[in-house]
Amino acid sequence: MTPEDRPATSHEREAGRPWDESYQDGPAPWDLGRPQPAIVELAAEGAFRGRVLDAGCGTGENALHLAAAGLSIVGIDVAETAVAQAQEKARDRGLAAEFFVGDAFRLSDLDRTFDTVLDCGLFHTFDARERQAYVASLASVTGPGAMVHILCFRDAGAESGPHPVTRAEFEAPFHPETGWRIETMRDSRIVARFAPDGLPAWLSTIRRVDA
Ligand SMILES: C[S@@+](CC[C@H](N)C(=O)[O-])C[C@H]1O[C@@H](n2cnc3c(N)ncnc32)[C@H](O)[C@@H]1O
Repeated sequence: MTPEDRPATSHEREAGRPWDESYQDGPAPWDLGRPQPAIVELAAEGAFRGRVLDAGCGTGENALHLAAAGLSIVGIDVAETAVAQAQEKARDRGLAAEFFVGDAFRLSDLDRTFDTVLDCGLFHTFDARERQAYVASLASVTGPGAMVHILCFRDAGAESGPHPVTRAEFEAPFHPETGWRIETMRDSRIVARFAPDGLPAWLSTIRRVDA
């Protein structure tokens, strides 16, 4: 069954409920109404190619930015309200981006594969065990050579945003035996409605290296 013709599973609805509440009374704290500046820069560098997945897409601004640049993009999120908003924006803007309610831990349910994955603000919401499961889920929809770009809060002492991730914590689920190689980990920033100048972040690119 394809994502188009199946409703959200009860697991997805359950997982999405707290997240969905963030979207119900106006914009969520991270929902800028425009793409993240770091993702705009990354796209301008040509970092996205082929079929692109936006995992935890929220209301779709990053995915729609990539769609407007001509990329083939699917966005998934557990929050039904966010997905409905993303679908409406795609319709209003005449863009071909597809958005589905879906769980990042069950990406194989999509029954598709991707050349590039974007994760803007999802990875840092997971604990260490969830990150391992998420990385395995990413492997289920990618092949060798696929690239994953993750923008997540970085541990920066007093200046840290919510859920800061240390370098060691970031590297742990991508250790070499998992079939992934971290290519770059750059200092970056995540802009939020509560932090218009941005908070310290890692902008990382990881390559799938195994078969
Ligand atoms: C901090 S928000 C970032 C949203 C969006 N990427 C952006 O930049 O505006 C994290 C998003 O991940 C979604 N999310 C959380 N857990 C998820 C999961 N297991 N599968 C898919 N999406 C999830 C939330 O609903 C939320 O929209």
